[in-house]
Amino acid sequence: MPSFSERTMMIWSLCLIISLSNRILVIASSSRHLCRPYQKDALLEFKNEFHYNVMAGKTESWRNNTDCCSWKGISCDPKTGNVVELDLQDSFLNGPLRSNSSLFRLQHLHTLDLGLNNLTGIIPASISNLKYLRNLTLYSCNLFGKIPSSLGNLSYLTDLDLSVNDFNGELPGSVGYLNRLTELRLVSANLSGKFPLALLNLSELTWIDLRSNKFEGMLPSNMSSLSKLIYFEISGNSFSGSVPLSLFMIPTLVDLDLGRNDFTGPLEIGDISSPSKLRVLYLGENNFNGPVPRSLSKLVSLVSLDLSFWNTRRGKVDFTIFLHLKSLRLLHLSNMNTKTMVDLSLLSHLMSLGDLDLSGINLKINPTLNLPSPIKFLALSSCSIVEFPKFIQSQTRLIYLDISANQIEGQVPEWLWKLPVLWYVNISQNSFYGFEGSEDVIQNSAKIMLDISSNTFQNPFPLLPVSLMYFSCSDNRFSGEISREICKLVYLDTLVLSNNNFNGSIPRCFENFNTTLSVLNLRNNSISGVFPEESIGAYLQSLEVGHNKISGGLPKSLINCTRLEFLNVEDNMFNDKFPFWLRLLPNLQILVLRSNQFHGKIFSFGASLIFPKLRIFDISRNLFTGVLPSDYFAGWSAMSSDVGIVDSTPVRILGRGSGFYHRSVALTNKGLNMELVGSGFKIYKSIDVSGNRIEGDIPISIGLLKELIVLNMSNNVFTGGIPPSLASLTNLQSLDLSQNRLSGEIPPELGKLTFLARMNFSYNMLEGPIPQGTQIQSQNSSSFAENPGLCGFPLEETCGGKEEEATKQEEDGEKEEKDQVISWISAAIGYLPGVLGGLTIGHILYSYKYGWFMRIFHYFT
Ligand SMILES: *[C@@H]1O[C@H](CO)[C@@H](O)[C@H](O)[C@H]1NC(C)=O
Ligand SMILES: *[C@@H]1O[C@H](CO)[C@@H](O)[C@H](O)[C@H]1NC(C)=O
Ligand SMILES: *[C@@H]1O[C@H](CO)[C@@H](O)[C@H](O)[C@H]1NC(C)=O
Ligand SMILES: *[C@@H]1O[C@H](CO)[C@@H](O)[C@H](O)[C@H]1NC(C)=O
Ligand SMILES: *[C@@H]1O[C@H](CO)[C@@H](O)[C@H](O)[C@H]1NC(C)=O
Ligand SMILES: *[C@@H]1O[C@H](CO)[C@@H](O)[C@H](O)[C@H]1NC(C)=O
Ligand SMILES: *[C@@H]1O[C@H](CO)[C@@H](O)[C@H](O)[C@H]1NC(C)=O
Ligand SMILES: *[C@@H]1O[C@H](CO)[C@@H](O)[C@H](O)[C@H]1NC(C)=O
Ligand SMILES: *[C@@H]1O[C@H](CO)[C@@H](O)[C@H](O)[C@H]1NC(C)=O
Ligand SMILES: *[C@@H]1O[C@H](CO)[C@@H](O)[C@H](O)[C@H]1NC(C)=O
Ligand SMILES: *[C@@H]1O[C@H](CO)[C@@H](O)[C@H](O)[C@H]1NC(C)=O
Repeated sequence: MPSFSERTMMIWSLCLIISLSNRILVIASSSRHLCRPYQKDALLEFKNEFHYNVMAGKTESWRNNTDCCSWKGISCDPKTGNVVELDLQDSFLNGPLRSNSSLFRLQHLHTLDLGLNNLTGIIPASISNLKYLRNLTLYSCNLFGKIPSSLGNLSYLTDLDLSVNDFNGELPGSVGYLNRLTELRLVSANLSGKFPLALLNLSELTWIDLRSNKFEGMLPSNMSSLSKLIYFEISGNSFSGSVPLSLFMIPTLVDLDLGRNDFTGPLEIGDISSPSKLRVLYLGENNFNGPVPRSLSKLVSLVSLDLSFWNTRRGKVDFTIFLHLKSLRLLHLSNMNTKTMVDLSLLSHLMSLGDLDLSGINLKINPTLNLPSPIKFLALSSCSIVEFPKFIQSQTRLIYLDISANQIEGQVPEWLWKLPVLWYVNISQNSFYGFEGSEDVIQNSAKIMLDISSNTFQNPFPLLPVSLMYFSCSDNRFSGEISREICKLVYLDTLVLSNNNFNGSIPRCFENFNTTLSVLNLRNNSISGVFPEESIGAYLQSLEVGHNKISGGLPKSLINCTRLEFLNVEDNMFNDKFPFWLRLLPNLQILVLRSNQFHGKIFSFGASLIFPKLRIFDISRNLFTGVLPSDYFAGWSAMSSDVGIVDSTPVRILGRGSGFYHRSVALTNKGLNMELVGSGFKIYKSIDVSGNRIEGDIPISIGLLKELIVLNMSNNVFTGGIPPSLASLTNLQSLDLSQNRLSGEIPPELGKLTFLARMNFSYNMLEGPIPQGTQIQSQNSSSFAENPGLCGFPLEETCGGKEEEATKQEEDGEKEEKDQVISWISAAIGYLPGVLGGLTIGHILYSYKYGWFMRIFHYFT
């Protein structure tokens, strides 16, 4: 369930737009003719150091023949005439801030704001020339590199904001000299290292914001020197250990955000005798355990409290603790692993509650319950609810409703659609079978996201509101042709109709989506006919139509989908040549053509495949033929290096990271069939060309794909020897070369592949001794069967004199295999559910459509 922050993003963004436009109106007030010529020259030169793509923004008004103190973004000291303030926020500056920039001649500046520009480059050390600076704002400037330690020379600095940049390394210790600093904002700046101890020297600090970086380690145990701290926000890092008691003892503290870290242990907040000022306490998504401290009830000023994912170890939680917190507006208690059953009526005394998340807690909801109605966000997922909660009907301010994963049966009540501002409705994973009311009951509401997946809904297919951006009805019992009505939803970004029983062909009108749709999933229906040639659009990132009966060719219009990352058409009746033109899709990461009737060569002179981002290539069980040149795999760089690939598809307007829309693909690794969802894709790299008629040598360039985890070339007509370059695939876990016509020896180097848990060389014409090596020797003899010339353990044929050694190898091998199996299982557990926390940020920064929107949101949450 998405967190508060993500859900309120839209609202935040709107506020921000309003506040930005206000700001633009207030600057540039002083206007006496005081401008000093050398400063005017410096400013004009500064303006010319950048290029402007669209328009010049504030600097447009800067002309040599006017007074520079009257220019937009400039303020002068009325007495001395010096330029003291330069505010060029969001002024379309493109280009680096050079170390010899004329900016540094403006010695009297005390405020410099270059936020929201494109200064691609480093912060030059000469920034310390501006020695009277008090406020320095460089947020969202595409800055990188190290933060210069010369910053420590800006001894007048009170406000420093370097948020939303891609710096490298730690915050320099020299910040410990900034002893006038009151506000420090370093949100999402890619900073790492331990908590900067230098900050403890800065006793004037009121605001520390280090959210969404890569800080780690424990917080210092004595933080009492920060005696004026009001805001302490460090969520979205990897801080660990216990939270120091001294933090709670800071009397001025109002806002404490420690969410999404690795803090552990029971929480001690000490004796709260004097009235606490604490209004915001976010502790969610850590590893806290033990009882919820009773003393929380004394934090009577609390407005927001998040304890989600607190592990009570199936213990009891005394929910009356929260009843004392009468000012609460946000209460997140989801996934606390408690066996306590909570009567929701308990919360009816919290008159201001606007955001309530009790997901994962067993709830008792009395049908006559009436809650105060300022609720805007309500998440009651997995609460063992059996009846549609009637109190929701009077929640007229509700924007967000998640009652997924409960046991509600029957029809969705008609009144739900009448709630005036409800945008997000998630009723997935229940047992609804229909909608109460007339056919157009949903259509007349203004929904943006609707998830009705995993129920037992049947026809008639509902008429949907045109405002929808996200719709999923996967895993239901809808049938018949896909209604053309759906093409009226021209704002749709994600459409998921998978796992129903739709038949007929794909409506041609899907071309209506050509300016919006980024995810289309029709998997596992009975859709037939050819894929329409009409373009589904330039925004498509993920197209999944596997497990249907689609015939004919892949539509060439996909060439224009340059954002396509994921293409899965497995298990259909496609009958086409290999789509060489896919090489023109620079972002393609996953290509699955498995189990169709694709045919012909997969190599063509002059159309060599270079897939820089491809990670999963599965063309198995088709009718491909031909020989592959030895450099076939050169240029498949995502499989040859471990550069992190950022998966951009999952980001949606109100969703969270990969918890939101899961693409899936079936893979076989080490003989296990598995389905990868969500973040599993990010690390998985595999090639499967099995079950075709490809012939000739295995290309030696296969050895370049060092990140490969699964390689399956079985059941083809490969000849020649096994290339020793395979031994470079040090991450390989599964190798299948069976059922070919390979000859020669198994290269002894393969014995060194320590992760290779499953291999199969059977049904070839291999000969010579099976190589030594714990993994290879732990295989079943069937992995080597039907190779007339192979000998040595685990086969019964001896090669002469080596048998004793082999027996010893076997013992080692068995133990090793057990270890492997265990590590494999834990790895699978690790990534299958999708790493919910942490992921979001990277995704957000990469989201293209809502790029600006997301950055802003990100900055504020
Ligand atoms: C501005 O005008 C003055 C006098 O006309 C001239 O000396 C100076 O070079 C000009 N500055 C710029 C940056 O063009
Ligand atoms: C930012 O600047 C860099 C190099 O100066 C340029 O490649 C990039 O396109 C610019 N980005 C935007 C959004 O203008
Ligand atoms: C600043 O240095 C760059 C080279 O780094 C040079 O091209 C430029 O002319 C210099 N500018 C000034 C104002 O000196
Ligand atoms: C500079 O920082 C101070 C202290 O936080 C603040 O009150 C002031 O508004 C800031 N000035 C500008 C121009 O941002
Ligand atoms: C501060 O400035 C002094 C003299 O200008 C210089 O020696 C020193 O290295 C600077 N300190 C930092 C941290 O840059
Ligand atoms: C973030 O910092 C790490 C070092 O901590 C560095 O390797 C990486 O390149 C940085 N990322 C970006 C996008 O600059
Ligand atoms: C702390 O600040 C004082 C001046 O207030 C300075 O002398 C000292 O070196 C600073 N210490 C650190 C660790 O930055
Ligand atoms: C914590 O540090 C302050 C000075 O910053 C010191 O006065 C105090 O004694 C320390 N407290 C403990 C318990 O060490
Ligand atoms: C989208 O399709 C419409 C016709 O349905 C067409 O007029 C329009 O040019 C297309 N836009 C793009 C970007 O392909
Ligand atoms: C791709 O788009 C261009 C421009 O909209 C169009 O002319 C071309 O026919 C499209 N290509 C395919 C294969 O649909
Ligand atoms: C709806 O809820 C389910 C189960 O809690 C979740 O997996 C899914 O991502 C949610 N859908 C949306 C659109 O947020």
